[in-house]
Amino acid sequence: MLQVSEMFSAKVPRYTSYPTAPHFHSGIDEAVYRDWLRNLPENAPLSLYVHIPFCDTLCWFCGCHTTAVNSYKPVADYCDLLQKEVELVSQALKTRRAVSHIHWGGGSPTLLHIGDIARLDADLRRHFDVLPDAEFSIEIDPRGLDGATVAAMRKAGVTRASIGLQDCNAKVQQAINRIQSDEETIEAVSLLREAGISSLNIDLVYGLPYQTLENWEATLDFALWLSPDRLSVFGYAHVPQFKKHQALIPESALPDIQLRFEQAELAREILCAHGYVAIGLDHFAKPGDALAVAAKHGEVARNFQGYTTDNAAALIGLGASAIGSFPQGYVQNIANVPAYRDAVQSGRLPVARGVAVSDDDRIRRAVIERLMCDLRADLPAIAARYNRPLTDFAEALANLAPMKDRGIVAEKDGILMIAPDWRSATRLVCAAFDRYLPQGTARHSVSV
Ligand SMILES: C[S@@+](CC[C@H](N)C(=O)[O-])C[C@H]1O[C@@H](n2cnc3c(N)ncnc32)[C@H](O)[C@@H]1O
Ligand code: SF4
Repeated sequence: MLQVSEMFSAKVPRYTSYPTAPHFHSGIDEAVYRDWLRNLPENAPLSLYVHIPFCDTLCWFCGCHTTAVNSYKPVADYCDLLQKEVELVSQALKTRRAVSHIHWGGGSPTLLHIGDIARLDADLRRHFDVLPDAEFSIEIDPRGLDGATVAAMRKAGVTRASIGLQDCNAKVQQAINRIQSDEETIEAVSLLREAGISSLNIDLVYGLPYQTLENWEATLDFALWLSPDRLSVFGYAHVPQFKKHQALIPESALPDIQLRFEQAELAREILCAHGYVAIGLDHFAKPGDALAVAAKHGEVARNFQGYTTDNAAALIGLGASAIGSFPQGYVQNIANVPAYRDAVQSGRLPVARGVAVSDDDRIRRAVIERLMCDLRADLPAIAARYNRPLTDFAEALANLAPMKDRGIVAEKDGILMIAPDWRSATRLVCAAFDRYLPQGTARHSVSV
């Protein structure tokens, strides 16, 4: 195993966007969003993201926009608001639009009652032309998942499910307040497969309290035994200054940088030895899976949900805190549910902030996306595509010099390649191209 130096404790973004979320600002308001919606490229299919910011209980490691609820009333009320927001957005679009991808995330969309699953789905289809071969994916908390909910999802047209497993070890589960038996996970996988939702992803997290290489390997073995089409292996992002409940996790029990690195490497070794293809920084897929096929052709994209085959012209975010991605820039909805409610109820698009992308952002975004997806970026080709001089990258290449010296990244004829053994350093390589990073790193987690 490679020794990890101090530089891996650097705090850098996960680059699900560029510019990244800390650089969104309130100058991107409803008027700007309306303009972006009106001027979307005509006829190109769109992608929809629906955020459900509720869970039955709160996992202490969680970094998502969610709250625990102990009654269904706020969830039902929220579904009314989503219905209204879908209507507002569709009115703001010039024409009725086709949709090629739908993703419901959270939080836990699995806590929706079956009537609300059907209602929300019908709403989307009333306002958009969901293409017959559209991918419809949903995030699943397997704890307590029942057959009726799965049947409602299938009926709504769900084609792909992403199941939260995180870690199987009892001590780790206790420390993150997420008790989930292997039987519950097995049951959820069976229910989904029996219902015909057979494209499955499993989420795992390393860097959690009390995780050792041994108990992490047991989690990986269990995940492999479930034989999902895809696995996401996230490094725990510990940011208690922003996610107060994370302070309930004993920091002394957290793996250090070296161990995090070894856990990430162990996952890669084991999953690849079992035939999975490594995609980008933290995803793995069976060779025949659409994501692996896209990776082979350099066509994987990165968005707020991670790695995807979604190449729609724009992603519309619906629901509190949801982020949309447009050719013109990014826009984020109000995260606070009562404030989101006030906006929607008064007929306003519930925009909180965003960022417009400049020409300089666009070429950097292209380089960062290719590095994050392919671990490789063809700088002359990207510069030519955006009609910019190669010298735009001079400062970034100078920043990369120490990493080149260490063999982390190589450059030949302007093509940057991250060494496979240093895949974990991808975010650091991307950071060299990030013009905004020096303006603040406090919000990010360690790079491994
Ligand atoms: C919305 S949740 C998935 C669905 C469902 N809520 C569940 O937990 O089973 C999205 C995923 O984000 C990952 N995640 C959440 N908080 C994280 C954190 N602080 N660091 C790294 N990954 C995190 C977890 O793997 C989780 O499954
Ligand atoms: S990890 Fe999933 S279930 Fe746990 S609090 Fe976060 S969104 Fe909810």
